[in-house]
Amino acid sequence: LSEYKLCVFGSGGVGKSCLTMQFVQRIFMPRYDPTIEDVYKKTVEIDGQQYSLEILDTAGTEEFSAMRDLYVKNSHGFILVYSITSQATFNDLTDFYERIIRIKDTEINGTPPMVLVANKSDLEDERAVGRQAGQELARRWKCTFLETSAKNLLNVNEIFFDLVRQINRA
Ligand code: GTP
Ligand code: MG
Repeated sequence: LSEYKLCVFGSGGVGKSCLTMQFVQRIFMPRYDPTIEDVYKKTVEIDGQQYSLEILDTAGTEEFSAMRDLYVKNSHGFILVYSITSQATFNDLTDFYERIIRIKDTEINGTPPMVLVANKSDLEDERAVGRQAGQELARRWKCTFLETSAKNLLNVNEIFFDLVRQINRA
């Protein structure tokens, strides 16, 4: 049984908790309840192997702290989430990314296992960030890009499955 620690980052309200809860419990929370900090655990089978995943769901509003740096150091994979309805949440991810790169010693290994997630893709009418902008950023960061909807359960499993496969290859 491989034990992998994953971290979910992104601005407040982008859907980090909803994506995590959909994956772990198959529940969608329509009401917004800002996170302090939660850890979820789930055992999953991926490609015929069992994994114990520990997912740290962070608070979007919280600044980076020494505590957080420790989480980053101890994590195997990272999920960076923005909402397609907000350009600001897309821009905010650069700070998260740079922090992660600085903490993980990636000079030799390049980007650590990472998925860039464009959430709320069900809200096409309110789209503010084009799909291509997300794809380009992911190419620059050398990570996977997925458009998701925690509401409609679109590409939710794929985030976690892709990340586990990346960790296996790293
Ligand atoms: P913080 O904990 O404050 O950092 O926010 P968060 O990123 O965890 O956001 P959360 O998952 O709590 O979702 C915020 C709001 O967006 C809630 O009202 C959710 O119901 C809604 N939401 C999350 N994902 C989706 C989605 O894919 N589509 C739609 N339409 N709404 C979503
Ligand atoms: Mg949350």
